[in-house]
Amino acid sequence: MPVYENELNAIIVGAGPAGIAMAYRLKHDLGFEDFTIYDKLDGVGGTWRTNTYPGCGCDLKSVLYSFSFNLNPNWSKELCDQPVILQYMEDTVDKFDLRKHVHPLVECIGAVWDGTLEKWEVNLRDLKTGIQYTRVASVFVSAVGAISFPRDVKFPGMENFKGAMFHTARWDHSVPYKNKRVAVIGSGCSAAQVVPAVAKQAASVKQYARSGQWFHDRPNRNYNMVDKALFRYLPFYQRLLRLKIFLDADEETTTYFPTPRGLKERRAKEEESKQYVRSKVPEKYWDSIIPAFPLGCKRRIFDPGYLDSLNNKNVSLIPEGIKEITETGIISTSGKQDDFDIIVLATGFQVSQFLTPMHIVGATGKALHDQWAECRGAQAYLGTHVHNFPNLAILFGPNTFPANNSALFACETQVDYAIKSLFIPLLDKRAKVIEVRQSAEDRETNAIHTKLTNTVFAGDCSNWYIGDYGRNAASWPGLARSFWFRTYFPDWSAFNMSGGSRWWPIYAAKRVLVNHATPITVALLFSFIYLWRHNEITTVRASALLQTLKYYLGAT
Ligand SMILES: Cc1cc2nc3c(=O)[nH]c(=O)nc-3n(C[C@H](O)[C@H](O)[C@H](O)COP(=O)(O)OP(=O)(O)OC[C@H]3O[C@@H](n4cnc5c(N)ncnc54)[C@H](O)[C@@H]3O)c2cc1C
Ligand SMILES: NC(=O)c1ccc[n+]([C@@H]2O[C@H](COP(=O)([O-])OP(=O)(O)OC[C@H]3O[C@@H](n4cnc5c(N)ncnc54)[C@H](OP(=O)(O)O)[C@@H]3O)[C@@H](O)[C@H]2O)c1
Repeated sequence: MPVYENELNAIIVGAGPAGIAMAYRLKHDLGFEDFTIYDKLDGVGGTWRTNTYPGCGCDLKSVLYSFSFNLNPNWSKELCDQPVILQYMEDTVDKFDLRKHVHPLVECIGAVWDGTLEKWEVNLRDLKTGIQYTRVASVFVSAVGAISFPRDVKFPGMENFKGAMFHTARWDHSVPYKNKRVAVIGSGCSAAQVVPAVAKQAASVKQYARSGQWFHDRPNRNYNMVDKALFRYLPFYQRLLRLKIFLDADEETTTYFPTPRGLKERRAKEEESKQYVRSKVPEKYWDSIIPAFPLGCKRRIFDPGYLDSLNNKNVSLIPEGIKEITETGIISTSGKQDDFDIIVLATGFQVSQFLTPMHIVGATGKALHDQWAECRGAQAYLGTHVHNFPNLAILFGPNTFPANNSALFACETQVDYAIKSLFIPLLDKRAKVIEVRQSAEDRETNAIHTKLTNTVFAGDCSNWYIGDYGRNAASWPGLARSFWFRTYFPDWSAFNMSGGSRWWPIYAAKRVLVNHATPITVALLFSFIYLWRHNEITTVRASALLQTLKYYLGAT
């Protein structure tokens, strides 16, 4: 066997925020460089590269919707728009020298676990040449995102439409909308951003919204010189602000749970939202916009000027679905016919179909999607590990979406967990193959679904959390910080491990010394090794504690 077959390498699919965070941690926390990132897009940024529709932006303050390892002192305002966020992603990749690991315009078609080699054979397609090829990797990381694959909507007659028709996430910038008649189908966050932005130039915008939404005010203050100076010269200030925004967002999440306090606060928030809508739009729209389903059942919308735009003469809301699309326009479910130049599908994403459409075959020869079909939808141990699929980590995986908090926080938390539960033990030669036990995965999944019962996500509304099998495969059933607590220390009894070296503690100590050698960390390391020798603490816990201490002591 060639020597290099024992070497550790990793393939990451996806150069969105999750892939970038994984690359940073591997390279800068572990000193591990032997990884490659493939992305089907022509660059990095994921969501923020694909979604370029007019008005696209973040509904969470950028101070929080940013990487913990790269706070940005230059945010122009509280909630930044897509071009600014994309630039931040690009800058992060360059600042940490990650670009050389990224292979753009390469699509991953699937991967097969080779039990003899104990590695993944990853099947790729070069989108420039069409050439398909295979790469072998000890670890396969899926960072393909969940809100990235447009929902495959089919309307009768849609193929006959003679104008332009595209999804918000596939915006066709070659089609000018100035002075054009535009239809927007859908009433989610994307539609709420597109409608006011397009209305500024279009002749008319008609929105087909078959459901209402809970809207909230979205103040968005520009940062002044003082804010920027504080961000730049007092980074701790931005960390504190970030923590406050995080805790406030978590606090709001209590409204989603069926506790007496949750119900009371939800009613208060619903009342506040109703008042907000009534203060903004003509009465004829109130019943169509204010929903009957509980607040939080669909993702709430922080109003990006959408309600104000409904007062414009060129904007109208048709509270109906689509019966048919004709050569020239749309017939609504009640039979109203209108002609359009452009139809925008703001119809959402196939969120519950994780890792679509990659064909991933595990240790038993079964495909991941077949295994998931047998258990009523996607599931993974703490959103990350799947039984029969060794040395695989899924980022932003099943049941990791924080209800009301930053998806980037969830991605980074999962990255940290995958580093601790997979990369560190493999690098330390504690194991060559790591696979979660089915019992642990099932136990964890059942606990999550029990907690999700009676939450607002199970309310009477259509939302993208609930998959084809009626199970909510998206939501984490608690506060965002509880996901962090839950994943902070890996529970090794949940895993089967094989092929390790009995000398792994030496390798672990070497890794910690090489990556964290300062007088404080060396002293701490020896203390931890002493404790570990006396079975007080595991090496991985020691490493995690070291990193925490290093972070707070500012030892780097
Ligand atoms: C318009 C929009 C606005 C959003 N706003 C917010 C917000 O305000 N707050 C919030 O918390 N969340 C928001 N989200 C959710 C957002 O998806 C996440 O915050 C974040 O982008 C997830 O990062 P990711 O890296 O997991 O996935 P993505 O950003 O989706 O990146 C996945 C990457 O994987 C690549 N990929 C996928 N399949 C393959 C394949 N087979 N081969 C090669 N490459 C592949 C894709 O091209 C993409 O680059 C928003 C989502 C959208 C669509
Ligand atoms: N930061 C932000 O402000 C922001 C912006 C955009 C997106 N996002 C993220 O991306 C997620 C997805 O948002 P999204 O707006 O793209 O999608 P979405 O929330 O899933 O909304 C899709 C919309 O399309 C409608 N629809 C779907 N199929 C339809 C059909 N066959 N006929 C008529 N209408 C149909 C839905 O109607 P029903 O509700 O009746 O099913 C819904 O109104 C958000 O929840 C959020 O996490 C965030």
